[in-house]
Amino acid sequence: MTGYPPLPPDVVVLPGTDLEGEWERFRIFEALHHGMRICNPMTDTDLDALIARLDPADGTRVLDLACGHGELLMRIAACYRIEGVGVDLSPWVIARAATTAARRGLVGSVTWYVGEARTAGIGAPWQIVTCLGAPWVWHGFGGTARALAERAAPGGRIAIGDLRLRDGADVGAIAEEHGRVATRHEQAVMLAEAGLRDVHELELAPGGWDAYIDRIAASAQAWAELNAGEEAERYLAESEMWRNDHERDRGFLTWTVWTARRP
Ligand SMILES: C[S@@+](CC[C@H](N)C(=O)[O-])C[C@H]1O[C@@H](n2cnc3c(N)ncnc32)[C@H](O)[C@@H]1O
Repeated sequence: MTGYPPLPPDVVVLPGTDLEGEWERFRIFEALHHGMRICNPMTDTDLDALIARLDPADGTRVLDLACGHGELLMRIAACYRIEGVGVDLSPWVIARAATTAARRGLVGSVTWYVGEARTAGIGAPWQIVTCLGAPWVWHGFGGTARALAERAAPGGRIAIGDLRLRDGADVGAIAEEHGRVATRHEQAVMLAEAGLRDVHELELAPGGWDAYIDRIAASAQAWAELNAGEEAERYLAESEMWRNDHERDRGFLTWTVWTARRP
């Protein structure tokens, strides 16, 4: 491998992962997200409320798919002797998660995998399975609900974070790039159709999405200060695009987190 730091020794690289290609591919995500722990519109309070709802305990097996910097797993493992696995295709975020976890003095154990979430964690049931902010991995909300249900043990809890249409918003107003965004009711139905019960939508703090967009701009700015040049200019422009898209969409889309239980 050329030009990239070695991964921490305890990181697992899943078979079939093009490590060098993924360092390159996720460079832009790194520039826009390196300065944050939670890479989605949730606040610290939202994340703690989600963890309480997922009801972890000593011995719980927890799988976080597209785990980003691993904040969800680390918060759980700080309090409970869990067996956790975090999977993400970006070596950047997994390197940071593994390094941070080693420093945070966790009581639970977490193993970090670089690789494709679509095929990870199948065949060994998990008491908690989550995917926050990466529904494209399974081509949308319904596919994500089925993927998480498939990995959950009987009685296991799942959580999905995704966009949805605001109540009462006009479906036709959505920019074409989003395709068809589901309503609150449709997402609840998709969870039920995946065989899940106790379907519940978390009430997230207002302003979380705005704060996430601000964190992206701050990350791009900090990255540009360390890596001045044409590439940094592109990433600053990209962070501006995220802000413009958010301004355009915020009236009719919202970001939401659902929990549910496999019977
Ligand atoms: C919006 S971030 C959310 C990260 C984390 N779940 C969080 O909420 O902080 C989306 C994550 O999906 C990861 N990702 C994208 N495609 C993936 C794939 N096919 N398999 C695994 N991870 C993927 C990205 O690297 C990124 O870390």
